Amino acid sequence: MTEKSSRLPGFYKLPLVERLAQIAKWAELDDEEVAILRGRGLQASQADLMIENALGTYELPLGIAANFLINGRDYLIPMAVEEPSVLAAVSHAAKLIRAGGGFHTESTEPVMIGQIQVLDVPDMVAAQQALTANEEMLMEAANACSQNIVRRGGGARGLEVRPFPDTPVGPMLVIHLLYDTRDAMGANAINTAVESIAPLVEKLTGGRVNLRILSNLTDRRMSTARCTVPAEVLACHGIPGTQVARLIEEANAFAIVDPYRAATHNKGIMNGIDAVCIATGNDWRAVEAGAHAYAARNGRYSALTDWHVDANGNLYGEMTLPMAVGIVGGATKVHPTAKVAMKILGVKTAAELAEIMTAVGLAQNLAAIKALATTGIQHGHMRLHARQVALAAGASEELVQTIADRLVEEGNIRINRARELLAELQSQQTAVLINGNGR
Ligand code: MEV
Repeated sequence: MTEKSSRLPGFYKLPLVERLAQIAKWAELDDEEVAILRGRGLQASQADLMIENALGTYELPLGIAANFLINGRDYLIPMAVEEPSVLAAVSHAAKLIRAGGGFHTESTEPVMIGQIQVLDVPDMVAAQQALTANEEMLMEAANACSQNIVRRGGGARGLEVRPFPDTPVGPMLVIHLLYDTRDAMGANAINTAVESIAPLVEKLTGGRVNLRILSNLTDRRMSTARCTVPAEVLACHGIPGTQVARLIEEANAFAIVDPYRAATHNKGIMNGIDAVCIATGNDWRAVEAGAHAYAARNGRYSALTDWHVDANGNLYGEMTLPMAVGIVGGATKVHPTAKVAMKILGVKTAAELAEIMTAVGLAQNLAAIKALATTGIQHGHMRLHARQVALAAGASEELVQTIADRLVEEGNIRINRARELLAELQSQQTAVLINGNGR
């Protein structure tokens, strides 16, 4: 049952303080939480406890993506990103997807992979047999060191042994400990687990353990988002919706076959996913690493998405990718702004957060390839760029849009022109005032 709608018509036109008030009401934020969003976020003293050699903090814009309907529930999505257009684009795409019933998402169990590298193994076959025969014992040993996660229903799920007979340093055995980290991203838990079982692995294999570390290719911890966009809502700039759907399918095919295009295509997906990762205090480098490694899983780097015209002529979209994010531990519970972002999202599990991010990535991609396949990306970018130029020229809130529109119309988005227009408009305002007073 949807109680609150994430449709926020006209939100982008409101002054910042009114937007903030609207979100505060929506998410029932208290004064302290609103103050955090207004800039009283991470303090230098907290930063000092988070990293070494801290000097202070580094700010990024935080915005809200609207219109998201995921599995029948409305979400407002906090995104931290410096790039103009990202928020507008993703909210636009979410609105199109909403017209087709929104996103449908699912995830696997949150199983991470911990790797143990074993070298100098005297007998590779015997070592593999010994490991397999002692799988239960190794899993119990792994569980013994993270009682917290085990109590919450997580823990070791299995062992895999992967021989690499021919490497630059000779034969190597790689052991995968599969470990369910529940609502944690789990890097610490999994690293502790592999470090703790490494001596047992040495004993069982007769080899020497070198690295013990999680893999960021978390292909046991995957999320999927799907959607169908009715063709009619895709119509734009005089192009019929069915044709736009076909152009989007073609754009996706380009990224499937060509790694040069796939890199940019997937970068656009990560524009959205990273922004939610950052806003919620998650490790976006881990998610990036997983996404790109997964995109190359078949030996050639390719698109993470599938977009095609379905049997009814509508646009079907789907994306599956590794998504190792958490809602406990790490910066999610330390960074004040991340805590507020989590409250706005109102998620109950890491899987729910992962699925939201996947939906955001899919929507971000739809927005990008729809723009690329129709007007070209610069059209929208230029409108936002023009606003920034108008602001930089000193335009007041009231005049920014008028000046930006003129700059775009004239195809001359330069600060000098913005200053000229500003002077013109200001002198017109003064004239109106004088005439008004004289009457
Ligand atoms: C820009 O940050 C992202 C895009 O280049 C993505 C794409 O090309 O699909 C617009």
